[in-house]
Amino acid sequence: MIQLIEWRDEFCTGIDGVDYEHEELIRHINSLFEKAHDKQSMINSINEIYAEIAGHFVLEEQIMKNEKYDQYEEHRQDHAKLLDDIGDIAEAYESDEDITKLQQLMNDWFVEHFKTHDARLHRISK
Ligand SMILES: [Fe+2]
Ligand SMILES: [Fe+2]
Repeated sequence: MIQLIEWRDEFCTGIDGVDYEHEELIRHINSLFEKAHDKQSMINSINEIYAEIAGHFVLEEQIMKNEKYDQYEEHRQDHAKLLDDIGDIAEAYESDEDITKLQQLMNDWFVEHFKTHDARLHRISK
């Protein structure tokens, strides 16, 4: 069974709370994806994954706002872009059923976003 996101050690930011939440997020996203065995359940799972990720972003954005984080705007925009991209892929999936696009997007995005924006969040805790 393919996984939507493959955990990599480089995802570790070194901030316990953030790392824990990211691992939970990836585990949950993968399990939603694995449970989807037909087109309708896959569409439902994509919607749940979207909601789950959006929830994680709300939390991160709230923390950044509270701490008057200097790169709040750039970080928030990267979150918004991923949600847009997932929305586009969900629409495309409904017509052509190519789910590998979602898998590719999620992996590319997580690798990039975790390494850059999320890793930089550790400055907040200092
Ligand atoms: Fe995050
Ligand atoms: Fe983030």
